Amino acid sequence: MASIESDNNNLIPEEITEIPPPPEKPHSPSLQRHVAFSVVNENEEIDNNNSSSAVTTTEESASSSENPDTGGSEQSSITVDSVCLEATLRPVSVRSSTSAANLESLCEQTGSAGKCNGNTPKSGGAVKSNGANGYFQHPIPIAEHPMVKEAWSLLEKSYVYYKGISVGTVAASDPSAEALNYNQVFVRDFVPSALACLMKDPPDTEIVKNFLLKTLHLQSREKRIDNFTLGEGVMPASFKVVIDEKNERVKEILEADYGGTAIGRVAPMDSGFWWIILLRSYVKSTSDRSLADQPDVQKGMKLILDLCLSDGFDTFPSLLCADACCMIDRRMGIYGYPIEIQALFFFALRCAKNMLKEVPDNKELLDKINSKIKALSYHIRTYYWLDYTQLNNIYRYKTEEYSHTALNKFNVSPESIPDWLFEFMPLRGGYFIGNVSPARMDFRWFLLGNCIAILSSLATPKQASAIMDLIEARWDELVGEMPLKISYPALEGNDWNIITGFDSKNTRWSYHNGGSWPVLLWLLVSACIKTARPQMARNAIELVEKRLSNDGWPEYYDGKTGRYIGKQARKFQTWSISGYLVAKKMLENPANLLLVSLEEDKTIAKPKLIRSASWSN
Ligand code: GLC
Repeated sequence: MASIESDNNNLIPEEITEIPPPPEKPHSPSLQRHVAFSVVNENEEIDNNNSSSAVTTTEESASSSENPDTGGSEQSSITVDSVCLEATLRPVSVRSSTSAANLESLCEQTGSAGKCNGNTPKSGGAVKSNGANGYFQHPIPIAEHPMVKEAWSLLEKSYVYYKGISVGTVAASDPSAEALNYNQVFVRDFVPSALACLMKDPPDTEIVKNFLLKTLHLQSREKRIDNFTLGEGVMPASFKVVIDEKNERVKEILEADYGGTAIGRVAPMDSGFWWIILLRSYVKSTSDRSLADQPDVQKGMKLILDLCLSDGFDTFPSLLCADACCMIDRRMGIYGYPIEIQALFFFALRCAKNMLKEVPDNKELLDKINSKIKALSYHIRTYYWLDYTQLNNIYRYKTEEYSHTALNKFNVSPESIPDWLFEFMPLRGGYFIGNVSPARMDFRWFLLGNCIAILSSLATPKQASAIMDLIEARWDELVGEMPLKISYPALEGNDWNIITGFDSKNTRWSYHNGGSWPVLLWLLVSACIKTARPQMARNAIELVEKRLSNDGWPEYYDGKTGRYIGKQARKFQTWSISGYLVAKKMLENPANLLLVSLEEDKTIAKPKLIRSASWSN
């Protein structure tokens, strides 16, 4: 690694990366959206130089002012910088960085419930501006939207009770389909439900607290699969309440699955990370650190991190994973170093760093966390990043380079670049690819990892903006008729045979293999709010509102554009319901972003190389 700087200097220098015009087709709906949006916004820019573009949450940056949001216990502020919301067709001209007041202004712009003035936003374009905030107004207050009302009621019905207290939400309640394990509380599925409960008015913090404590209790159980005992820190993938009738006294017990009964028997690597992230959301929402400070909770966090920070044979800071270890819990060729896990790992490290007590006993762990945050962010920001310029670099790679000066660090053969990518890659925009390991770059797009990278600030602000540019430019492919593609493109033919092992659930453009998952809406909308693209969020929400409730809140949709209800999709899938609610609450009140977002850690060095025009504008 000694020659990283000189290596980077050998690549495309910043100065020569001319900004090409945006590549959208003239008839592209997303282009129309942009043009209309920019025009309206231009007026606003004249009216109000402080109008906001990017919302970032300050978690670690020093701020002397007391924060009412956290009761002063945690330093936190909102910074909103730069003008020109979504105006990617012209360069951002003014940048300003202010705090709290800007959040209010953004809240107004995104139209809080009750501030309705009758300006109905139209899909695919901006509506008439009415002063500073006209085109964000809601046709009816969010809380009274019939779909929102239905969603809250369904969410409440999905509650799972244990000894009289709510401890989570069931994955799906589809009376027409076999329950399989969908009658369980999945850790990852509960995250949007928990966020919805925290954002609710008034919030239901109890269910979140109970869930955190019950899953913590399950972590401390001995976990065996056949004769093998899993690591102490492993969190369950899911659990259910069963009635134990063995003893004379009938009692409820919690039965957990740590991967042993899941398809493929893979432990969920994401569960522990989601647990830490949710714990921080809870602390943020309640302004109460006492739960996080409890000794058992502190221990739970440490056990999760111990699993991932132990020394081994790694030459990369990224986490080595088995296929099927996260949301994509079937074989899909994501083994190795999938972006989803790397981004969640980074997010969890940063959350834990904030919540672990600064006591002498934690010093070693905190040092390890700090080093990992630095190394991991460098690794992902540098080697996973792909845009037009970097694609061109890889296309011209030489192989068989020995020594530190190798440009092609992983000995990736340019022949391994798939044909679809040359078409897909816009001139403006970029993303973190699916996986990087020796001689292998998985160029597929995965939404979850990219959005988590934005929310955790694993992506630099320029990278975050470029990711959103890419989604905008490839709206038809990645959003289509129903948000959002979990992965793109689908594996077909021989690739499908070999990579999925002929998986009949993951056929092309279905389920994990290029299917469209409404739950992902909350992640997109949060990323939109963070990068100040509320209109893009609104466009995605509109698509969901056209069908999701009428279709019975399915788990996923199939087809290239997501037109068909998924072949084996459960109806009344809870995270489709709660994902929608979180998206609505986020748009209604952008301050909700604070629950799921971290500001850039200024102590982490940015990658030296700026590879593409889309980074620098
Ligand atoms: C499917 C999904 C998984 C989810 C589970 C419960 O198996 O792939 O991510 O947690 O269903 O909804």
